[in-house]
Amino acid sequence: MTALQTVTIDRLAFGGDGVARLEDGKIVFVPDALPGDHVQIDLTEEHASFARAQAVQLITPAEGRIPARCADAEACGGCSFQHAEQEHEWRWKTQAALDAIARIGHLTLPDDLRLHGPGEPDAWRRRVRFQLNERGHLGYFAKNSHRLVRPRRCLVAHPAILSARERLEPTLKGLGPGSLHLEVSADGAVVGCLEVAPKRLAAAAAKLRPLIQQARKDNHPLVGLRITEQLQAADPKFTDIGQTDLHIQVLGQTYTLPGGLFTQANPAVNDALVAYTIDELALTPQDSLLELYCGWGNFSHAILKATPSFFQGMELSIPAIHAAESILYPRKRRGETIPDDAPVRFNVRNLTRGLPTKHATPQRYSHVLLDPPRAGARPVLDDLLTIAPQRVVYVSCDAATLARDLKHLLRDGAYQLVRLGLFDMFPRTAHVEVVATLERTPPGA
Ligand SMILES: C[S@@+](CC[C@H](N)C(=O)[O-])C[C@H]1O[C@@H](n2cnc3c(N)ncnc32)[C@H](O)[C@@H]1O
Repeated sequence: MTALQTVTIDRLAFGGDGVARLEDGKIVFVPDALPGDHVQIDLTEEHASFARAQAVQLITPAEGRIPARCADAEACGGCSFQHAEQEHEWRWKTQAALDAIARIGHLTLPDDLRLHGPGEPDAWRRRVRFQLNERGHLGYFAKNSHRLVRPRRCLVAHPAILSARERLEPTLKGLGPGSLHLEVSADGAVVGCLEVAPKRLAAAAAKLRPLIQQARKDNHPLVGLRITEQLQAADPKFTDIGQTDLHIQVLGQTYTLPGGLFTQANPAVNDALVAYTIDELALTPQDSLLELYCGWGNFSHAILKATPSFFQGMELSIPAIHAAESILYPRKRRGETIPDDAPVRFNVRNLTRGLPTKHATPQRYSHVLLDPPRAGARPVLDDLLTIAPQRVVYVSCDAATLARDLKHLLRDGAYQLVRLGLFDMFPRTAHVEVVATLERTPPGA
C-alpha cells in the first residue's frame, strides 16, 4: 500500500464515512472525517475500485466541525456526529441518503423532497439497548468492535434511562454478558427488558426483585423488568418483576403497551412521521388499506381515525399484534373473539415468504403502507405489484434497502415515485428515516 496521502473529503457516504479521491482517482472511505476536512490519511485496505483509510492528522477542519460534545464520542459506536454542527450533519446525511437512493435504485429523484430536520439533538432517545458485560457495566459497543464503552453521560439518552442505569449497575455484576433494553414511558417510568444466559436467570431474579421493589418504594423511575419470552420459556419460574406496561403517546393519544415491543425511539419525530404518512396516504372512507410490518399499530391507530372502509394489518410479532388488537377491541382482553369478517383486522404473519395468496389478488387493497425492518421488504414486492394499489407509502430506516426495493417496484413503469420525505429520527447518528410515496401510473400514460 502507498504511504500517507493528503485528501479533501468531498461528501459523506451512506453509513457516515467521509469520501475523498486518492491521487490515482480511486474513491477512499475515511471514518469520522467530515465533508470539507483536509486530512492526512493512512490506507488500511485497498481494493480494485475503492480503498479505506484512517485519518492520522486533521490539516484543515471542515466548516461545521466542532470539538466533540461527548467525552466518549471518538470511541463510542452509538453516535457518528457529536463533532459536527447539527445543521451541517443534517445536510450531509440527507444528501448521502438521497445519493444512495438514486445510485442503488437507478432512478431520478423526484422534485418534491420534504426535509423534516434536524431533530432535537439531546435526550431524544426514549429507549436504549445497553450491552452488559461481566463486570455489570451497561454501555455501547465501541466503533467496529464488541468492546464496551460506557459514556458517563450519554447525551442522546433520556435522563430517566441514565438514572435507571445508575440504579441497576451495582447489582448486575456477574450476570453478563448480555443486554438490557431500557424504555421510558410517557409518564416518565422506566421499564427494562433483560437478556442474559438462562443459567444466570436465578441469580438475576434473586438480585433484581428486591432492587425493583426498593426503587418503587423510593419513587425512582425504574418500575419494572421484563424477561424475554425465550428466557421465560427456558425457565417458567422466572417471571416479570414489578410493573412492565408502559404508555406511548402518538399525536396526543396515549396507548398502553407491554414493555419490550418494537416502538419508535424518538417520540417527537415519530409524531411528525405519522402525521406525514397519514397525509401521504390521503385515504377516503371508501378506501381499503393493507399495512405490512404494522407492529403494535404506531401508524394504524392514528390512520383508523380516517376510517378506510377496510383495514388489514400484518406483523410477525405475536405480542405486538395482541397489543394492537387490545387497543382496537378492548373487550378482546376479556376473551371476546373478533369476527372473521370484521372490517379492521390485525394478523400475525411472517412475511419472509410473501403475502398469503388470498391477499395478493388484483385491486384487493386501494392503498398499501409498509414499514419493514432494516433488511427491507423484498419478499412482498411482487405481491404488491399483483395487488396494484393506487398508492404505496413505504417507510424505511435504511435508504439502501429502500432504494433496492424501489428499483423493483418502479422497473416496469407501473408506478411513479412522486415524493420523498426525510426525517431526522436518529439525531447525531448517520441514520435517516425515509418515506417514499408511489402512485400507480394511469393507463395509457
Ligand atoms: C421498523 S418496525 C415498524 C413497526 C411499526 N410500523 C412501528 O412504527 O412501530 C418493523 C416491524 O417489522 C416486523 N417484522 C420483522 N420481520 C418481519 C417478518 N418477517 N414478517 C412480518 N413482520 C416482520 C417487526 O416485528 C417490526 O414490528
